[in-house]
Amino acid sequence: MEIAIRYQSHGGNTKEVAEAIAKSTGITAETIEKPITDPVDLLIIGGGVYKWDIDPSLKNYLENLDPKLIKSVAAFTTAGGMDKTKSILSIVESKGINTEKETLAVKVGVRNHAWLGGKGYIKLTEKQIQSINRFVRKLVENK
Ligand SMILES: Cc1cc2nc3c(=O)[nH]c(=O)nc-3n(C[C@H](O)[C@H](O)[C@H](O)COP(=O)(O)O)c2cc1C
Repeated sequence: MEIAIRYQSHGGNTKEVAEAIAKSTGITAETIEKPITDPVDLLIIGGGVYKWDIDPSLKNYLENLDPKLIKSVAAFTTAGGMDKTKSILSIVESKGINTEKETLAVKVGVRNHAWLGGKGYIKLTEKQIQSINRFVRKLVENK
Protein backbone atom coordinates (compact mmCIF):
# COMPACT_ATOMS: atom_id res chain seq x y z
CA MET A 1 0.00 0.00 0.00
CA GLU A 2 1.36 3.42 -1.01
CA ILE A 3 1.06 5.94 1.83
CA ALA A 4 1.98 9.64 1.91
CA ILE A 5 2.12 11.92 4.95
CA ARG A 6 1.72 15.70 4.75
CA TYR A 7 1.43 18.32 7.49
CA GLN A 8 1.07 22.05 8.11
CA SER A 9 2.68 23.37 11.29
CA HIS A 10 3.47 26.93 12.36
CA GLY A 11 4.84 26.11 15.78
CA GLY A 12 6.08 22.52 15.58
CA ASN A 13 3.35 20.62 17.45
CA THR A 14 1.79 19.16 14.33
CA LYS A 15 5.26 18.40 13.00
CA GLU A 16 5.93 16.34 16.15
CA VAL A 17 2.73 14.36 15.56
CA ALA A 18 3.52 13.93 11.85
CA GLU A 19 6.99 12.62 12.78
CA ALA A 20 5.41 10.12 15.18
CA ILE A 21 3.06 8.96 12.39
CA ALA A 22 6.12 8.70 10.13
CA LYS A 23 7.90 6.54 12.69
CA SER A 24 4.83 4.32 13.06
CA THR A 25 4.42 3.82 9.30
CA GLY A 26 8.06 3.92 8.20
CA ILE A 27 7.19 6.68 5.71
CA THR A 28 8.73 10.17 5.65
CA ALA A 29 6.46 13.04 6.67
CA GLU A 30 6.67 16.08 4.40
CA THR A 31 5.24 19.56 4.75
CA ILE A 32 2.45 20.80 2.48
CA GLU A 33 5.12 22.56 0.46
CA LYS A 34 5.41 19.22 -1.32
CA PRO A 35 2.55 18.32 -3.70
CA ILE A 36 1.37 14.76 -4.28
CA THR A 37 2.68 13.84 -7.72
CA ASP A 38 2.46 10.02 -7.68
CA PRO A 39 -0.60 7.83 -7.00
CA VAL A 40 -1.21 6.96 -3.33
CA ASP A 41 -3.69 4.62 -1.67
CA LEU A 42 -3.75 6.67 1.51
CA LEU A 43 -2.81 10.27 2.24
CA ILE A 44 -2.50 11.02 5.96
CA ILE A 45 -2.73 14.78 6.31
CA GLY A 46 -2.95 17.16 9.24
CA GLY A 47 -2.47 20.65 10.58
CA GLY A 48 -2.77 22.94 13.55
CA VAL A 49 -5.91 24.84 14.56
CA TYR A 50 -5.65 28.62 14.64
CA LYS A 51 -8.57 30.87 15.47
CA TRP A 52 -11.11 28.07 15.46
CA ASP A 53 -10.12 26.42 12.19
CA ILE A 54 -7.34 24.84 10.13
CA ASP A 55 -4.85 27.15 8.42
CA PRO A 56 -5.78 28.72 5.03
CA SER A 57 -2.59 27.21 3.56
CA LEU A 58 -3.84 23.71 4.41
CA LYS A 59 -7.30 24.47 3.02
CA ASN A 60 -5.67 25.62 -0.19
CA TYR A 61 -3.55 22.46 -0.38
CA LEU A 62 -6.63 20.25 0.13
CA GLU A 63 -8.62 22.15 -2.49
CA ASN A 64 -5.84 21.50 -4.98
CA LEU A 65 -5.50 17.75 -4.39
CA ASP A 66 -5.81 15.68 -7.55
CA PRO A 67 -8.61 13.09 -7.06
CA LYS A 68 -7.04 10.95 -9.79
CA LEU A 69 -3.91 10.43 -7.67
CA ILE A 70 -5.43 9.86 -4.21
CA LYS A 71 -7.63 6.90 -3.25
CA SER A 72 -8.33 7.87 0.33
CA VAL A 73 -7.50 10.51 2.95
CA ALA A 74 -7.11 10.29 6.73
CA ALA A 75 -7.09 13.49 8.80
CA PHE A 76 -5.34 14.64 11.97
CA THR A 77 -5.15 17.96 13.82
CA THR A 78 -3.38 19.35 16.86
CA ALA A 79 -5.06 22.05 18.92
CA GLY A 80 -5.45 23.58 22.33
CA GLY A 81 -8.73 21.74 22.64
CA MET A 82 -10.62 21.58 19.36
CA ASP A 83 -11.04 18.66 16.97
CA LYS A 84 -11.05 20.16 13.48
CA THR A 85 -10.45 16.99 11.49
CA LYS A 86 -13.91 17.51 9.94
CA SER A 87 -12.65 20.75 8.32
CA ILE A 88 -10.06 18.67 6.48
CA LEU A 89 -12.43 15.85 5.57
CA SER A 90 -15.23 18.07 4.30
CA ILE A 91 -12.93 19.68 1.72
CA VAL A 92 -11.62 16.27 0.67
CA GLU A 93 -15.17 14.90 0.36
CA SER A 94 -16.23 17.87 -1.74
CA LYS A 95 -13.55 16.80 -4.21
CA GLY A 96 -15.03 13.30 -4.43
CA ILE A 97 -12.09 11.64 -2.67
CA ASN A 98 -12.83 8.84 -0.18
CA THR A 99 -12.18 9.63 3.50
CA GLU A 100 -11.28 7.40 6.44
CA LYS A 101 -13.61 7.43 9.44
CA GLU A 102 -10.59 7.00 11.72
CA THR A 103 -9.32 10.44 12.74
CA LEU A 104 -6.76 11.77 15.21
CA ALA A 105 -7.16 14.99 17.21
CA VAL A 106 -4.22 15.63 19.53
CA LYS A 107 -5.02 18.06 22.31
CA VAL A 108 -2.01 19.96 23.54
CA GLY A 109 -3.71 22.27 26.02
CA VAL A 110 -2.66 25.89 26.26
CA ARG A 111 1.02 26.06 25.46
CA ASN A 112 3.77 28.51 24.82
CA HIS A 113 3.31 28.44 21.04
CA ALA A 114 6.53 29.01 19.08
CA TRP A 115 4.65 31.00 16.47
CA LEU A 116 3.90 33.58 19.16
CA GLY A 117 7.47 33.74 20.37
CA GLY A 118 7.11 30.91 22.88
CA LYS A 119 9.67 28.25 23.68
CA GLY A 120 8.54 25.79 21.08
CA TYR A 121 6.70 22.61 20.43
CA ILE A 122 5.31 20.02 22.81
CA LYS A 123 6.98 16.82 23.79
CA LEU A 124 4.43 14.10 23.12
CA THR A 125 3.36 12.06 26.15
CA GLU A 126 3.49 8.27 26.14
CA LYS A 127 -0.34 8.27 26.02
CA GLN A 128 -0.36 10.56 22.97
CA ILE A 129 2.20 8.35 21.21
CA GLN A 130 0.03 5.31 21.95
CA SER A 131 -3.04 7.01 20.45
CA ILE A 132 -1.01 7.96 17.36
CA ASN A 133 0.15 4.36 16.96
CA ARG A 134 -3.44 3.13 17.42
CA PHE A 135 -4.64 5.57 14.73
CA VAL A 136 -2.03 4.28 12.28
CA ARG A 137 -2.76 0.63 13.11
CA LYS A 138 -6.49 1.09 12.49
CA LEU A 139 -5.86 2.87 9.18
CA VAL A 140 -3.63 0.09 7.96
CA GLU A 141 -6.00 -2.64 9.24
CA ASN A 142 -8.88 -1.05 7.30
CA LYS A 143 -6.98 -1.44 4.02
C1 LIG B 1 -2.65 32.13 16.95
C2 LIG B 1 -3.14 30.84 17.53
C3 LIG B 1 -4.51 30.56 17.55
C4 LIG B 1 -4.99 29.36 18.10
N1 LIG B 1 -6.33 29.10 18.08
C5 LIG B 1 -6.80 27.93 18.60
C6 LIG B 1 -8.21 27.65 18.57
O1 LIG B 1 -9.04 28.43 18.08
N2 LIG B 1 -8.63 26.47 19.10
C7 LIG B 1 -7.76 25.57 19.66
O2 LIG B 1 -8.21 24.52 20.13
N3 LIG B 1 -6.42 25.81 19.69
C8 LIG B 1 -5.92 26.97 19.16
N4 LIG B 1 -4.56 27.23 19.18
C9 LIG B 1 -3.63 26.20 19.69
C10 LIG B 1 -3.01 25.46 18.49
O3 LIG B 1 -4.00 24.80 17.75
C11 LIG B 1 -2.00 24.42 18.96
O4 LIG B 1 -0.94 25.06 19.62
C12 LIG B 1 -1.49 23.60 17.77
O5 LIG B 1 -0.80 22.48 18.27
C13 LIG B 1 -0.61 24.42 16.86
O6 LIG B 1 0.01 23.59 15.92
P1 LIG B 1 1.47 23.86 15.37
O7 LIG B 1 2.40 23.92 16.58
O8 LIG B 1 1.76 22.72 14.51
O9 LIG B 1 1.42 25.16 14.64
C14 LIG B 1 -4.08 28.41 18.65
C15 LIG B 1 -2.70 28.70 18.65
C16 LIG B 1 -2.22 29.88 18.09
C17 LIG B 1 -0.76 30.16 18.07
